[in-house]
Amino acid sequence: MSDAIRTESLGKTYPGGTAAVRDVSLSVRSGEIFAFLGPNGAGKTTTISMLTTVLRPTAGRAEIDGFDVVEAPEQVRRVIGLVFQRSTADEVLTGQENLEIAAGLYGLSPGEARPRIREVLADLDLAGVADRRVRDYSGGMRRRLEIAVGIVHAPRTLFLDEPTLGLDPQGRAQFWQMIRGLRARQEMTIFLTTHYLDEADHLADRIAIIDRGTIVTTGTPAQLKDRLGGDGVRVLASRPEAGIVGVLESVPGVVAVEPAARDGSYRVRVAQSASIVPAIVRACDAAGIDLAAISTHPPSLDEVFLNATGREYRDAGESGENGAVRVAPGGR
Ligand SMILES: Nc1ncnc2c1ncn2[C@@H]1O[C@H](COP(=O)(O)OP(=O)(O)OP(=O)(O)O)[C@@H](O)[C@H]1O
Ligand SMILES: [Mg+2]
Repeated sequence: MSDAIRTESLGKTYPGGTAAVRDVSLSVRSGEIFAFLGPNGAGKTTTISMLTTVLRPTAGRAEIDGFDVVEAPEQVRRVIGLVFQRSTADEVLTGQENLEIAAGLYGLSPGEARPRIREVLADLDLAGVADRRVRDYSGGMRRRLEIAVGIVHAPRTLFLDEPTLGLDPQGRAQFWQMIRGLRARQEMTIFLTTHYLDEADHLADRIAIIDRGTIVTTGTPAQLKDRLGGDGVRVLASRPEAGIVGVLESVPGVVAVEPAARDGSYRVRVAQSASIVPAIVRACDAAGIDLAAISTHPPSLDEVFLNATGREYRDAGESGENGAVRVAPGGR
């Protein structure tokens, strides 16, 4: 299959000097659901803005379906759809009318628009409310209408910037189902940004993790986790023990020991998990260390991020040189 998206050393330095995106090279195959995952301020929106011709790169290049975003922006815009986080629908118009306007903006003739609008309304389960004003739509209906507007011109690639921000877990699960259905029925490539690890894990065929403007790792969710090798073990001593790291490191099969933030436990990375728990318990016992808890778990994307960046994912967006923190509208 051909590449729907390809970038080479793509970069953006804002006029103020912030290097928001640095040296991003990636390719997304046609028909993939690709998640661009990263903490606040990592460079996700900046990247998606360059790919959709909203922002001009300051370094490198990007192509959509073979069209260069700087040299052929018109062609790029014709083959992509873009859905922003914030609502763009006109509240006093009906869903149908919003779609007619969008189709007109995309240059579809009324004859082309009519069957296509019918198709997207049906596909996004909005046919029954097409003639209702958007201000009377539920949150879920609005979200589906946003997508319908974004795909009314039948783009080959759909870009979604943090589409599930602010949705509750149920709303997010419904959204994932909708995206999978869309990909299957409309044969679309889907590029979405998210800062939810679990979302990327469940939804995406492949993931690129971006941190401080640079891609730190790329692969299928399974590949990313497999590359870490083996399960993780979490060990918590009854009280702080200065010697615990040395004791854990001495256990055969232990690859690395990292203090996990906050609760005083340690993450132990092991080459193979069979019989590692009893071995750790015995070693701690022999060293006079009293354990409060020990558990094993399959590798998670949290650990992939920690391994790639040396930082906890949940701490990554809160500070640092690129530390823009999102301020929610009306938020504290
Ligand atoms: N218009 C701008 N001018 C200057 N700096 C900017 C601009 N837009 C973003 N930045 C900075 O570029 C960096 C990357 O921002 P970007 O919005 O791409 O991150 P993001 O991954 O989308 O973050 P979030 O998860 O908060 O949406 C941040 O340091 C941000 O402050
Ligand atoms: Mg963003």
